[in-house]
Amino acid sequence: MAERGYITPSWKELEKLERKNYDVIVVGAGIAGMTVALSLESKLRVAIISKDQLTESSTYKAQGGMAVAVGPDDSVKDHIADTLRVGQGLCREEAVRVLAGEGPKALEFLQALGADFCHNQNGLDLTREAGHSCKRVVHYYDYTGKYIAETLACKVNRRNNVEPIGNSFLVDILTTQDRCGGCIMEHSGKLVHLQSEAVVVATGGYSGLFSRSTNAVSASGDGIAAAYRAGAIIADMEFVQFHPTVFNTFSGKFFLLTEALRGEGALLRNSAGERFMFNYHPSGELAPRDEVSRAILREAHQQPGGQIYLDARHLGKEYLVDRFRQVYAELAQNNYFMEQDVIPIAPAAHYTIGGIKTDLWGRTNISSLYACGEAAATGVHGANRLASNSLLEGIVFGRRVATYINGAFSATKEPSTLSAGITEEIGSCVDINVLRKKLDCAADVERLGAELEAMLKWLSDVEQKPQVSAANSCNYRTSNAYQLARLLLKAALLRTESRGTHYRKDFPEKNDADFSKHMMQQWGREVVME
Ligand code: SIN
Repeated sequence: MAERGYITPSWKELEKLERKNYDVIVVGAGIAGMTVALSLESKLRVAIISKDQLTESSTYKAQGGMAVAVGPDDSVKDHIADTLRVGQGLCREEAVRVLAGEGPKALEFLQALGADFCHNQNGLDLTREAGHSCKRVVHYYDYTGKYIAETLACKVNRRNNVEPIGNSFLVDILTTQDRCGGCIMEHSGKLVHLQSEAVVVATGGYSGLFSRSTNAVSASGDGIAAAYRAGAIIADMEFVQFHPTVFNTFSGKFFLLTEALRGEGALLRNSAGERFMFNYHPSGELAPRDEVSRAILREAHQQPGGQIYLDARHLGKEYLVDRFRQVYAELAQNNYFMEQDVIPIAPAAHYTIGGIKTDLWGRTNISSLYACGEAAATGVHGANRLASNSLLEGIVFGRRVATYINGAFSATKEPSTLSAGITEEIGSCVDINVLRKKLDCAADVERLGAELEAMLKWLSDVEQKPQVSAANSCNYRTSNAYQLARLLLKAALLRTESRGTHYRKDFPEKNDADFSKHMMQQWGREVVME
């Protein structure tokens, strides 16, 4: 089976496509992509491509806030220590130093663009989230992501050198022998050839591949799949962070109940009404997310009725309605009122740590191809992400990518002999929802080798019988989903230990004795599936 790309050969004749030229193409319009676009020099012609409406981006849905060491009892050193501890030995320490060290500047960057986070009488109102040793999270009520996304989008739209191109799907990344030279996108049903000196993949993660997910279905890792086909190294695909407190709405949407609720005192209760988290972890409700998610599932299995609840009743209506206005309104629409009701919750896929391996400047192993934000694997999160480090990551590494490109940029030159990763017929056009449901079971909070293998076998059986179908974004997305699911499952199978977000029931301990092997898998290995 050809590994790199199995989408379609139907547009071999690249030169027949409409062609547009830019200096830099940024794919993805979440916090990372927009930060890059805004930080590139204004002499550069930039296209920023997005799939959907702004409201579908993971940034937009982020509630809690952005972790940054600016509090009176805090320090960059403590932020680094907390990130490393939660990452369980797999963080790349120099990346963590960059993240925490450049945090205060990232906050200043947002403030200079007009983002004015919530304040109290002492200054910025910092909230606590799991895994943090002090209050460290700046926020805008409980819709921080929406607030930041709108602030950035407003500035992007005013930049004369930046062309936002919406409703577009990244089909493939183009490479010459030694560098990236642009991409193919589908826009309004038509393939367009975008030629550029640099491409930045900031397309987010792949939590949308799970049907139980806090992300939009469109968070399907398409940029990671395209980079992989182009030859980029992919790492850490097995690490999927599940958020412990997710509410299943009437409409079947999974709605996040921010960790800041527990940070401000909300409790977890079993169906007998008892608190149980201290039976599982000394930090109780504020244990790291992987611990809380597993505890919830285990406690639910032990109880008749098997439901776990979030209880914020004691925080009082006045406070809840104001501080958690988005959550309060969504729950009220579903006939739950936080001051009087306990709220049924369960874990759902929330954030993916794996992605395109980069250095500290967002550079990939392919010259002129960069990645940042959730699409990248910089090593800042290790085996588990510290809560609210991801908005910060988008800004810090987005700014670094732009700084590097600004410095490295040379006059636009005509790239030679472009090739794309895409090589074969579209196959595997089984309903993507079947895959998503299967992934929910096989790659859940707790995993089992036999189940990972069974799903891999199912994927290869499906791929034995390719059905040729039209090349369109729906089918590209499905093909990408198959490719990424295989990477995830294979990586999860290879990691025969439990660490952070990756828990194997058949290997429930950390394998520190064989630690070097796992480190090599993490950073030295190109996750190739043959
Ligand atoms: C939350 O608000 O609980 C999510 C924050 C995050 O994922 O970092």
